[in-house]
Amino acid sequence: SEELCLTIVVAGASGDLARKKTYPALQFLFQHGFLPSNVAIIGYARTDMNDDKLREKLKPKLVGSDDDIDKFLKRCTYVAGSYDGAEGWQGLAKVLDKRESKCSKNPAGRLYYLALPPSVYPQVCAGLKEHCDNLRSVEGSWIRVIVEKPFGHDLQSSEQLADQLGKLYPEHQLYRIDHYLGKEMAQNLFVMRHANMFLAPVWNRTCISNVQITFKEDFGTEGRGGYFDTFGILRDVLQNHLAQMLAMVAMEKPLSVHPDDLRDEKVKVLRCIKPVEPHNVVLGQYTAANGQPGYTDDPTVPDDSKTPTFAAVTLYIDNDRWAGVPFVLKAGKALNERKAEIRVQLRATPHFVFNGEPESMRNELVVRLQPDEAIYLKMIVKKPGLEFDAAISELDLDYSRRYPEVDIPDAYPRLILDSIRGDQQHFVRRDELRAAWGIFTPLLHKIDAGEVEVHPYPYGSRGPAEADELLARADFVKNVAYDWKEPGGS
Ligand code: BG6
Repeated sequence: SEELCLTIVVAGASGDLARKKTYPALQFLFQHGFLPSNVAIIGYARTDMNDDKLREKLKPKLVGSDDDIDKFLKRCTYVAGSYDGAEGWQGLAKVLDKRESKCSKNPAGRLYYLALPPSVYPQVCAGLKEHCDNLRSVEGSWIRVIVEKPFGHDLQSSEQLADQLGKLYPEHQLYRIDHYLGKEMAQNLFVMRHANMFLAPVWNRTCISNVQITFKEDFGTEGRGGYFDTFGILRDVLQNHLAQMLAMVAMEKPLSVHPDDLRDEKVKVLRCIKPVEPHNVVLGQYTAANGQPGYTDDPTVPDDSKTPTFAAVTLYIDNDRWAGVPFVLKAGKALNERKAEIRVQLRATPHFVFNGEPESMRNELVVRLQPDEAIYLKMIVKKPGLEFDAAISELDLDYSRRYPEVDIPDAYPRLILDSIRGDQQHFVRRDELRAAWGIFTPLLHKIDAGEVEVHPYPYGSRGPAEADELLARADFVKNVAYDWKEPGGS
């Protein structure tokens, strides 16, 4: 087939998101030969500047030799225009038409990447739809729009936004990014779960005691306080990234890996989750400690802000597979470490005949998303030596040792490539978004009304102690004697 005449429009090209994430991801794809060699990348934003000024702005975040960078930047041009009114969009349309006239026999692909705050999505989509929608009739031509959260601040506002966008672009043209779905280990979780016979019979309430999905960052909201304060950690991380990971852990095996088969199953399981109950929640906000500022010390955060920077919530999935199994989602800023992982803890074996504490002798399957991608399974084995004792060890797949030559791609290049290929598997469908908001919205309204306590925790700590109590109630047993050793380390 004829080569795709691909044009990528980065709306919001002058902003931070574009400079730090979008263009570097595009450069990665370009350099690795995943974009057609004739690709055109057109930046669009209000800032009045020319191509060279844009290139100068982009350069510091790009990687490789000067030659590599220049080759990529040659593909990047700029059009200035406003987001409201027709004039700017008409200008962009002219540039697009001119560009496509150079490859008039080929199918044309237009990817509109909105590196912009969602408040302007409706008007930007309206402008693009009205003025930049002349899809070429050559078979294989398409127009797709990439958007990213926050999609509203609760169920109602998210639905409203979805309605507005849905009137302009139908679901098959809309690619909603949840960048956690683009992570290597999130995708591996799916394969591992559904391709391993030994996991299938234990993956249910009979064998699994509890599941923990954890997101920790060892830095605060410095510099993003203004954005963060209106959202809080539940909207920023739990409602999207962690809810998606939960769906991947708990969903049934889809009919196929067709994007809609997969997303049908995710929606189904999300819809089995009742809204979070306030007694299953622990919130926290970090305070100054160890020479680090507290959350409200940020000048862009109001001094009396009660916005949670930490949350642990226990969810239950009301279906036959999972009834009664606590799923604890935990996320926090300014904690003691940076880590994202999924930890599936099995029940202890019912009749334990060895020395040792039977209740803490539990299998655990851990999928570490970052840093240092790994999967390991805690196994109870014989303690080496003359005694006949049991001990916990691990079956371990450490990515950097097992796949030393593989450079694991970042989430954004992968997702952009999927969108160019027309694969929506790793994008959030509207009904998933609705279901995920449904779980958190009643709680969020209570928090917004100041009805849920927010516990202070020191910067760099493990978070509020109350969260450990929540975990204990979820039957999580921490094996204190067990210490995961870095393979090859001492
Ligand atoms: C974003 C959140 O979606 O994810 C940020 O808005 C958070 O607050 C980030 O820091 C974490 O992404 P990653 O890929 O670094 O874990």
